[in-house]
Amino acid sequence: MTVGEDYPMKNYPALWLIPAAILILSACTGPTNPLAEYNPVTPPTALTVPTPDPARASAYDADTVERGQYLVELLGCASCHTDGALLGRPSEGAHLSGSNIGIAYTNPLASANPGVVYPGNLTPDKATGLGDWSDDDIVAVLMRGEGRSGHRLLPVMPWTAYNRLHEKDAYAIAAYLHSLPAVKHEVPDNVTPGRKAGTPYVHVGLYYRKD
Ligand code: HEC
Repeated sequence: MTVGEDYPMKNYPALWLIPAAILILSACTGPTNPLAEYNPVTPPTALTVPTPDPARASAYDADTVERGQYLVELLGCASCHTDGALLGRPSEGAHLSGSNIGIAYTNPLASANPGVVYPGNLTPDKATGLGDWSDDDIVAVLMRGEGRSGHRLLPVMPWTAYNRLHEKDAYAIAAYLHSLPAVKHEVPDNVTPGRKAGTPYVHVGLYYRKD
């Protein structure tokens, strides 16, 4: 057997097979972009917050309510608890009355149906907001992440950052929230991972890969 006879017959087809196989494989498995279904979000900014309703505010010391307003604006509560704000398009007149845009708390790139939470209505509407909450209930959320039914709130609500507040300041926030004009607005129920959310949502990182 000479090289001249054998080489073209056996190895030529093999050379063509390599790029052909790569092309077929990449067409089947394709390099997909996991972000293809996502849109970039204009980052939310700290929004101005509503002026208190004098009738409601009269239950508190005026300086306390003013301090609460300053803190709520500074701590950016309205950038989550306002409809549209998480997409950079806050609804006018709805500041602090809750968001229909959710926040995914599990990785939406790992599962098509992540868990989603909705920042609630912080105005004192009795049916849909904090009208039935005591000042202590609000302070428990801010300083300890304790929800009213004793459950721990997800750190998507940044109570882990707010727990360094002075208690007096946490009560000032509660006083201001209770002094707001009531807005009736019910946010959607939170969605557990695996169920499909019926609204748009943004993703805030909470988990990271171990490897
Ligand atoms: C990064 C977004 C974000 C910011 C900023 C934020 N919150 Fe929240 N907040 C949430 C989410 C999400 C929940 C629901 C968490 C859950 O269900 O576990 C929540 C829940 C709450 C609750 C419990 C009642 C309810 O409606 O669910 C209160 C009270 C509250 N937030 C007050 C505040 C106050 C006051 C501030 C500012 C000092 C603030 N939040 C800032 C996202 C946010």
